[in-house]
Formats: sequence, structure tokens, C-alpha cells
Amino acid sequence: MDSSEFYEFLVSRSSVREYTGQKVTAEQLSYILDCGCTSPSAGNLEAWDVVVVSSEEVRELLSDAAYQQPHVRDAPLLLVVCANYIRSMSRYGERGILYAVQDATIACTSMMLGVHAQRLHSCWVGAFDEEEVKHILGLPVHVRPVAILCVGRGHPPGSYTERMPVGEHVHDSTW
Ligand SMILES: Cc1cc2nc3c(=O)[nH]c(=O)nc-3n(C[C@H](O)[C@H](O)[C@H](O)COP(=O)(O)O)c2cc1C
Repeated sequence: MDSSEFYEFLVSRSSVREYTGQKVTAEQLSYILDCGCTSPSAGNLEAWDVVVVSSEEVRELLSDAAYQQPHVRDAPLLLVVCANYIRSMSRYGERGILYAVQDATIACTSMMLGVHAQRLHSCWVGAFDEEEVKHILGLPVHVRPVAILCVGRGHPPGSYTERMPVGEHVHDSTW
């Protein structure tokens, strides 16, 4: 893949919020999880974990926890990506809290791009009641759910979601 193909790969992904019932195969899931495992992490501690959810009943509960977002219920597969504080704090103390969140975020990004490489669709969902999600999935106290990645095959929006001009983000030498 050359640099223009890579850029095209990035801009051709969009969040998908309407899903068909088509399941994600075990091979596709395995590829997506392997993509997550390529991610860099602080001290290579990989302070993230993922709960793989396909049960319709649990998807419904998670959709409720995500303020009734319908794609959380309708996507055939949910990857609930979590920060594992103990893994990172055991070396980095308080700073490990931030590192674990970053580790989880990068892993989720890698999996999102892995989904795209499989020509499947995804939507990153960050709006949810954390305590509800922890309760539904039985997460231990040291594990924080960071994102729910909806995965499946769906109907992408017809148009690209506009971004700010790059200059709005970039500060030259100082702020
Ligand atoms: C941290 C984060 C939280 C998000 N939370 C939600 C969410 O709760 N529900 C949702 O439908 N989309 C959510 N999104 C998706 C964004 O709305 C979407 O990425 C953005 O509008 C750009 O569109 P695109 O992904 O199609 O390029 C979230 C994305 C990120 C990175």
C-alpha cells in the first residue's frame, strides 16, 4: 500500500449506524482482534482488554446503557474495549491510569481499522453509563470500559463527514 492508498483507506471509513443482520465470522473476528494486539502501549504492558459480545440479549442491555442508541442493539457484534488499570499502574502508579486509557483507545482504533480492512463496518460508541456497562459485563473494579465498537455489515452514509481544516489543529512551535 503506498501513501495515497493509505490516505484513501483512512478517508473511506465512516461510522455506520444501520446494520444488516449479517454475522461477523470467526475468521473476521480473529483478524480484528489480532489487529488490536499490534497496537503500541506504554511500556508494552498492553493495559487493555476487550469483551466480545454477540448475544442479542446482552446487546439490548448495552444499548439501554448507551442511552438507547439503536446501533448498539442492531450491530451483530460489539467489542467493549476496556482499560486495565492494574496492568499499567503496577509499573507507572497514577500515570498508569492515563496510559491504560490511551492503550485501550489505540487498541480500539487498530480494531476499527481492522474492521474497515475486512470491508465490514463499525461505529465507535463512547456515550454510555459506565457503571451500567460494568454491571452488565461483570467487569472487575480495576477495569474501565472506554469504548463500545459496534461491528457488522451495514449501510454507510452517502457522504464523507467533514473535518476541520488541518490548520485549526496545528500550532507552529508554540500554542
Ligand atoms: C470518543 C468517541 C466517542 C463517540 N461516541 C459516539 C456515540 O456515542 N455514538 C455514535 O453514534 N457515534 C459516536 N462516535 C462516532 C463519531 O460521531 C464519529 O466518528 C464522527 O462523527 C466522525 O464521523 P465518521 O466516523 O463517520 O468519520 C464517537 C467517536 C469517538 C472517537
